[in-house]
Amino acid sequence: MRKACVIGWPIEHSRSPIIHGYWLKSLSIDGSYEKVAVRPENAHAFLRTLGKSGFAGCNVTVPLKEIAFQTADEKDASAVAVAAANTIWLEGDKICAANTDTYGFMTHLSTTVPDWNERDKPVLILGAGGAARAIVYGFLQAGVGKVQVANRTKERAEALGSHFGPRVKIVDWYDRFNAVCDASVIVNTTTIGMKGEGSLEMNFANADDQTVVADIVYVPLETGFLAKARARGLRTVDGLGMLLHQAVPGFEKWFGARPTVTPELRALIVADVEAST
Ligand code: ATR
Repeated sequence: MRKACVIGWPIEHSRSPIIHGYWLKSLSIDGSYEKVAVRPENAHAFLRTLGKSGFAGCNVTVPLKEIAFQTADEKDASAVAVAAANTIWLEGDKICAANTDTYGFMTHLSTTVPDWNERDKPVLILGAGGAARAIVYGFLQAGVGKVQVANRTKERAEALGSHFGPRVKIVDWYDRFNAVCDASVIVNTTTIGMKGEGSLEMNFANADDQTVVADIVYVPLETGFLAKARARGLRTVDGLGMLLHQAVPGFEKWFGARPTVTPELRALIVADVEAST
């Protein structure tokens, strides 16, 4: 039986076991996927002995993504771009790492709004943490000419800008309201809007009718940010699809079959989110 897991500290909140459990069952694979609570100081040793513990690999969540990246022997381009890894698998005695948040976000965006990139306009990213890095990298890879980044702490946005080069432009946090006019896609990558954490102040009145608005927060499923965009008549992309799609590459590495993000899987997670809110 193939075994995989998700590690983090804490780990109780993780919905990854629901996703992988659904795929194991629907594909009739004899495998398991469990949650393992790993303290940051033990993460390196845990990953080094992953194979000995019988695991084919694991997902990694906060606060262990940077440690996982540093521990890995081989890293994919997205993990290098973000300097953090969320998916680990073994090749012989080598630990391989990927960051599948880029894939997850871009796949969900393209699936939901296939024509998002038809107009030659900048995108606007709010936030400059690890998730922002993964998404900025995705837009650059997709050929977007200008990626604007606004973050409350400007130094962090500037660090992100110098990491990715001249196609990334920094916008003052309070200028985000003006940057809306010019944007083809606007993404909230901040943690604001998560259950009980207020709502990100934004005004979409001056946005183009074709603008797409995305959030990576998925609890609640429709954040205040997305609700405002929807009320303005804009197309919206929720955070749940990113969670579902980012899980696909790991499952394929560990269990040898490429799973599909189905409406039934989505409904399972929606029910779980609704039960918790
Ligand atoms: P992740 O790696 O998951 O992206 P993170 O590194 O903790 O998480 O980043 C969280 C992001 O949310 C940051 O851009 C943070 O802004 P700062 O860099 O200024 O801290 C942003 N954020 C969180 N709470 C915020 C708030 N109340 N107002 C504005 N931005 C906030």
